[in-house]
Order: sequence, then structure tokens, then C-alpha cells
Amino acid sequence: MTLEFIPIHKDFGAEVRGADLTLELSEEAFSEIYAAYFRYGLLLFRGERLTPAQQAAFTARFGEPKIAPRKQFNVPDQQEISVLGNLRAEDGTPLAFLNRQGVEWHSDTAGNEDPDGITFLHAIEVPRAGGETMFCSMVAAWEMLSDERKADIAGRKVLHSFNHHNDKVLRIGPGTARPLTPEERAKYPDIWHDLVQVHPVTGRTLYFASHNLVKAVTGVEGDPDAAESWIMELIDHATRPERVYVHAWSPGDLLMWDNRAMMHSATDVGPYEEDRRIMYRSSCRSVFTGAERVAD
Ligand code: OGA
Ligand code: MN
Repeated sequence: MTLEFIPIHKDFGAEVRGADLTLELSEEAFSEIYAAYFRYGLLLFRGERLTPAQQAAFTARFGEPKIAPRKQFNVPDQQEISVLGNLRAEDGTPLAFLNRQGVEWHSDTAGNEDPDGITFLHAIEVPRAGGETMFCSMVAAWEMLSDERKADIAGRKVLHSFNHHNDKVLRIGPGTARPLTPEERAKYPDIWHDLVQVHPVTGRTLYFASHNLVKAVTGVEGDPDAAESWIMELIDHATRPERVYVHAWSPGDLLMWDNRAMMHSATDVGPYEEDRRIMYRSSCRSVFTGAERVAD
């Protein structure tokens, strides 16, 4: 298997040509892909038609698979794969997790103690219009800050709160989010992350902040709104149009990204309300430090 890596954006990302992920990758091919994943932060494979079992096997090559907690949307015989999209049963029961938030930049499970290392998203059915996913590099975002701003944000910590986020989502409604039970709330304690981090593998400096979860920033006085608008400036900086790659999906595309080095966002569901979007999603652990659990 001869692999080629073709950059898809000036700051990050590459399309991988010459791979067939339905076959077991040789150690050599795997190492090349793994190195490229760190180098580019985002890899795109086209024309893959992976079964859930094949996607789970590919995911497991990179780290211990995580099981999505919304079990009702996981593939019954393949819990590592969760289904995203707007699939519904005849009686209207959602058969996939639908995110109605529109544009909301984040790293996956940034509110957890060990945020997802790698996310894999595989397009099964795509709508005729809309349903794109957007990406930006937090390494490029850091590099493009002025020296003053770098000095200002270095050393700060950002409090990420899944509960705070879920409460906000419920106010927007009606997606597939639901109120959390007290037990669930306790399961996701708020977590402090260092805002500025050094990537443990690439050694590159970046900043890590998922604005939807942000409840507080050290040195920023006021309520969660004050912290969120402070962070929003950094998100806007990272996501200026020239720093963003917008992926328009074709069936068979598979993207994998480094949640430490990148942020991503879905787009509005409005444009494809009448069409189907079905994606298989998986994720695995990888080296991820710098999070501090907040005592209950
Ligand atoms: C995700 C995600 C965006 C999309 O799977 O983590 O944010 O466009 N998906 O489906
Ligand atoms: Mn996500």
C-alpha cells in the first residue's frame, strides 16, 4: 500500500490516498498514518464503506475505544460506534443523536477529565445540501496571536462544565438532549483545563477551550457570561474564515481528528431538515494531560 498525503488547508489537514481501511493495515501503513495524524491534526479518507465492525477495528488501532454514553444511539452489536444524524423510527423516536446547536466550536468531551483523543466520523448518508463540518487548528490560532495576547492568556485556567452546557442546550431545545438526573450530574464534575498547553506528542503550543462548556476563566471576574464572552474572542480569532476548513461530506468519507490540536463545529440542521444525514462516530483515548478535576 503506497500512501500519499495531500494537504487540504494551509494550516492543517491532509487527504490520505491509497489506503483501504476495510483491510487490516500493515504496521508500516499504520505508523505512516499515525505520524501524519499528529502532523496534520485532521485526516480525510474518501470512498471508504466501513461496516461498524471495521470502523471499530480501525479505531482500536489508535487507542482504547470509548463508548458513547447515549447508549440508545449506539449500534446494538458494536457499542463503539454511535449513530449521529436525523434518523427516526416511524413513530418519530430518534434513532440517532441529533445536535441542533448549529455552529458551536469545540473539542469532543472537553468537559471530561480525559477528553476524547481522536474522533472518527464516517459519512453513511449525506443530505443534498448542508450538513458540513468545520475545522480549525488551535496551534495555528496560538501562533497567530500577538506577543501581548500570548503573555496575557498563558498560565490561565478554564473551567469546563458539561452540566452548564446541558442546561444551556435544554433552554434552546428541542433536540435529543434531556435533563440530567442528579446521578448523571454528579458523574460529570466541572474540570479545570490549562488554557495554553503544549501538545505532548508534537511539542507544539496551542490553546484549549470549548466555549460552549466554559463557565469560568481564572482572572476574569463576573458570571459565566463574562467568562464566555472573554473566551469568545479567542474562539473568533481561531475561527476566522481563512483559518477554517469546511468539509462538505460525500458518502464514504471518513475524517479523524486530534481533539487536542483542533476544534470542530457542526453547521445548522435547517438546510437538510427534509433529507437524511447518517454518520457513524467513534472515538478513542490518547495522551491527554492538563485537566484537573474539581472536587465535588
Ligand atoms: C461530533 C461532531 C459534527 C457534525 O461528532 O463530535 O461534533 O457535523 N459532529 O456532525
Ligand atoms: Mn464534536
